[in-house]
Amino acid sequence: MNTPHQVRIVEVGPRDGLQNEQQTVTTDTKLELIDRLADAGLRAIESASFVSPKWVPQMADHADLMQRLVRKLGVSYPVLTPNLKGFEAALAAGATEVAVFAASSESFSQKNINCSIAESIARFDPVFAAAREHGIKVRGYVSCVVACPYEGPIAPQAVADVSRALYERGAYEISLGDTIGTGTPSSVERMLDAVARIVPVDRMAGHYHDTYGMAVANVDASWRFGLRTFDSSISGLGGCPYAKGATGNVATEDVVYLLQGLGADTGIDLDALVDTSQWISDRLGRAPGSRVARAMLAKRAAMTA
Ligand code: HMG
Ligand code: MG
Repeated sequence: MNTPHQVRIVEVGPRDGLQNEQQTVTTDTKLELIDRLADAGLRAIESASFVSPKWVPQMADHADLMQRLVRKLGVSYPVLTPNLKGFEAALAAGATEVAVFAASSESFSQKNINCSIAESIARFDPVFAAAREHGIKVRGYVSCVVACPYEGPIAPQAVADVSRALYERGAYEISLGDTIGTGTPSSVERMLDAVARIVPVDRMAGHYHDTYGMAVANVDASWRFGLRTFDSSISGLGGCPYAKGATGNVATEDVVYLLQGLGADTGIDLDALVDTSQWISDRLGRAPGSRVARAMLAKRAAMTA
């Protein structure tokens, strides 16, 4: 459990950040990215997803990546597993932590994993059982916690119900995903309030996409609500292939800057993070998506000019 000023950042760039990337990112680049993130101080780095390569081609190298990953002491490298097949492949590739992902919207569940919410939970039962048997931690994601790209606004109680299903089955943490990034502090707070009636606040994580530029505000509101775990993506990379128009997660650099300003102990070297942001952005052929990274890079350039 985190102390009041400790915060845990789950870096999702190598998975959520890259899954929607149109150009193929090599396994070598992904491995170097993961290494650089760990060197910058990140202690949880979601590294791949063991989903069907037909559905998400960018993640097709999941087994190779996990087998070649040089693990650093004290760093966890969770991977997404939608079903037992994915779990078994992840286990064989050396994963020691997995995440299952459900939605609070029926339409999104169908589009994303081709089954209803209830069917998805039933598919996770054998994953939870196998994980228990092998001593593997399971994180639970709930998507579309504010709104769905197909159905519109989602009732906070629907989010709480799915959170309950995952938490009761043994998920050690519930990551609440504003998949399409339409949430504002007030809609996010209403959702958190409903989930907190079921899941302890120190077992809830905020996973906010930044489509409408509200993600940093939503992290701030969640921090004030009591959350101490946030998912973010280096350089604000990402999006979901089954949520068209949604942009990346809130940038890790922006979250670290915000949290440092709130007096939190992130354990992350912001300068090293900005270097990594620049490095991956160069590889992808674009400018960093983080406002903080751009500002710090501009300041560095001005100082050396
Ligand atoms: P399906 O077609 O219903 O599955 O897909 P199926 O069981 O009928 O199998 C069809 C084929 O897929 C078979 O192969 C299976 O072997 C294979 P075939 O006989 O045709 O050659 N298959 C698999 N292959 C690799 N790994 C597996 C696997 N399972 C079956 N685990 C399935 C169902 C779940 C597989 C598919 O819908 C899928 O892979 N979906 C993944 C979608 C995805 O990754 N979305 C992005 C992640 S979610 C997200 O980003 C949101 C989040 O960030 C939070 C937020 O922002 O809110 C987490
Ligand atoms: Mg996401």
